[in-house]
Amino acid sequence: MSTTFTLNTSTSRSHPVPEPVRRLTIPAIQGRKADGRTEQPIVMLTAYTARMAQLLDAHCDILLVGDSLGQVIYGLDSTVPVSLDMMCAHGAAVTRGSYKSVVVVDMPFGSYEAGPQQAFESAARIMKETGCAAVKLEGGEVMAETISFLSARGIPVMAHVGLTPQAVNALGGYRARGRDDSERAKIVADAKATVDAGAFALVIEGVMEGIAREITETVAIPTIGIGASAACDGQVLVAEDMLGLFERTPRFVKRFDDLAGRISKAAESYASDVRDRSFPTDAQLYGVKQGKS
Ligand code: KIV
Repeated sequence: MSTTFTLNTSTSRSHPVPEPVRRLTIPAIQGRKADGRTEQPIVMLTAYTARMAQLLDAHCDILLVGDSLGQVIYGLDSTVPVSLDMMCAHGAAVTRGSYKSVVVVDMPFGSYEAGPQQAFESAARIMKETGCAAVKLEGGEVMAETISFLSARGIPVMAHVGLTPQAVNALGGYRARGRDDSERAKIVADAKATVDAGAFALVIEGVMEGIAREITETVAIPTIGIGASAACDGQVLVAEDMLGLFERTPRFVKRFDDLAGRISKAAESYASDVRDRSFPTDAQLYGVKQGKS
């Protein structure tokens, strides 16, 4: 399936919208933090499909096409097997389904770690095929050269430090990071390195509140927390987690709905109606046009 589409430059989306809205920009997001303060916290949610993007767009500043789609959409055990093809297909769908939020697409494991040149080729493909405004990659000091290479070549980079899920095999699991002094110092150093390298925003995942606060108070760019306390300049959650689509969620997730329960109830009602033949009824039948035989 080709994911390439023609960008409509007046609306930054592939289809005209009833009332064209100007899409938020990377400088506008970065500019939300001025003199170390963010008056209006940045709202970010993941989206993987066009329909979900349509529903979330009006309420968000950033839609993140996270590689968490590996677990949420594809039923994989981790984000490690997620491919560039997957990210491009879902990224394009989310850009098509949104017109206000900045779309950021995750660079999947194996598509950028070899060096700046590999990262540039992967990021350029993601941007051309999806129409997104920026990419996100995991890692701190070790990724500084790559972040600087991409940023200098017109590719805005959102960095991601703390708990970095693509490193699950090296970390040995998804436990919170920064519980001891050396890990804490490393995370703070990682964050500063990504900022010095030119990242426009920084995701901080799974760390103690004090670390998130220290980073947020030190760096000039917005920090976006996930499991990192309200000290950050914005928040992100996996949309399906906060919608209650899963019975088990990490401690930091607040469920704003119970979609799992509601979907299950709806499917139960449908099955019952099919079995007792109370669906479909006349209301769902096509009518014959008057005057035609
Ligand atoms: O892949 C993802 O969804 C993320 C998050 C920050 C939620 O990286």
